[in-house]
Amino acid sequence: MPDDLLDLFLSTTQDYGIILLDPDGRIRRWSRGAEQLFGYQASEMEGTPAYEIFVPPDRQAGVPEVELQTAREHGRAEDERWHLRKDGTRFWASGVMIALRENGTLRGYAKVVRDFTERRRMEEAVRQTQRLESVGILAAGVAHDFNNVLTAILGNVSLVRRRLKASDGDGQIDGMLAGAERAGNRAAELVKQLLNYAGKGRREMRPVDICQVVKDALAIVQASVSKKITILRDMPENCPTIEADVGQLQQLVLNLVLNGAEAIGDNEGEVSVRVRIRDVHQAELAELYAGFPLPTRPYTEIEVRDTGNGMDEDTLQHIFDPFFTTKFLGRGLGLAAALGIVRAHGGGIAVKSTPGNGTTFTVLVPAEQESEDSPLTVAEAVTESARGEGLVLVVD
Ligand SMILES: Nc1ncnc2c1ncn2[C@@H]1O[C@H](COP(=O)(O)OP(=O)(O)O)[C@@H](O)[C@H]1O
Ligand SMILES: [Mg+2]
Repeated sequence: MPDDLLDLFLSTTQDYGIILLDPDGRIRRWSRGAEQLFGYQASEMEGTPAYEIFVPPDRQAGVPEVELQTAREHGRAEDERWHLRKDGTRFWASGVMIALRENGTLRGYAKVVRDFTERRRMEEAVRQTQRLESVGILAAGVAHDFNNVLTAILGNVSLVRRRLKASDGDGQIDGMLAGAERAGNRAAELVKQLLNYAGKGRREMRPVDICQVVKDALAIVQASVSKKITILRDMPENCPTIEADVGQLQQLVLNLVLNGAEAIGDNEGEVSVRVRIRDVHQAELAELYAGFPLPTRPYTEIEVRDTGNGMDEDTLQHIFDPFFTTKFLGRGLGLAAALGIVRAHGGGIAVKSTPGNGTTFTVLVPAEQESEDSPLTVAEAVTESARGEGLVLVVD
């Protein structure tokens, strides 16, 4: 190929980053597409080995050298990995490095890179959808059966206690039965959270004063957490009323505030709850609530922020899964139930968190009474949104 055609190719091709290297792995040509992808100009890169585009752990693990070696020995090296842009941001890259040989002599390498971040996000979203759907169905089934069993156990215990009252002189048997009842009620509580997650919890929709719900939940939490934790609230004078099940709403706020307090543990810290009405626009809905097909409209926003230990990306991926917990005594049902409750009320939940820097959960619930359409369950909602653009339940 004449050189001018090669130049034209390298300076025209977008979307693909094309990099030519000499046999020592130093960059000879850095295409227009590579400039766009990585943010480095050709003049900055030509003549250097392309270490800067690798994330530090890859650099330390010797990935750049291994890539060249694999291409040298096998003709090509193909993989997907994070790469760094000049501005420090990352993208998920699919790349192939090819060894260029002439009569058996290594003349250099060519590397072609594409940005697969969006594709990876979509794949992750589909996996998440499938997981939520199947787990939701499972949860609903198990919870329903357990509910029936527990009703029978607790009902009978309570009957026996009533009959024993007279004959059980020192109250020992009564005490044991009370213990059984407490255990049964705890199990029923867990089952209720599971049912809430699956969108199958019993709901009685009525106009609810959200500020009163927050106050009640905070009073419960305040009494049970360390005095080093300050609990703050910020609520409008004229508190919005929302159409909701008061018990579920209380559960929702309680679960979020308790998590906030638990993330602070024995340290000093703050958990704050803010309630306000906001017009939430499409861009924000699309970015933060991508897992929920929510229309542009006024919402009541409940924000729960804590100064606790925060979460890394791996944890964030799983927090809404039932039974996912990082706590020794955790049950992993708090956020799963929160998600189900929010969905059942036609709303969305988003989270922002960084390790060591606290966490903010934001819940949106429609501000005025919804129309007749019954709200979606988790499984329906995720299926629904999977048909649309992308699905991310959690955005860091
Ligand atoms: N505010 C928070 N700060 C840090 N991590 C959190 C927070 N909320 C939830 N998490 C993480 O999400 C996990 C799941 O939470 P949850 O469903 O309430 O279950 P549990 O509290 O029983 O562990 C927690 O174990 C924790 O790792
Ligand atoms: Mg919890």
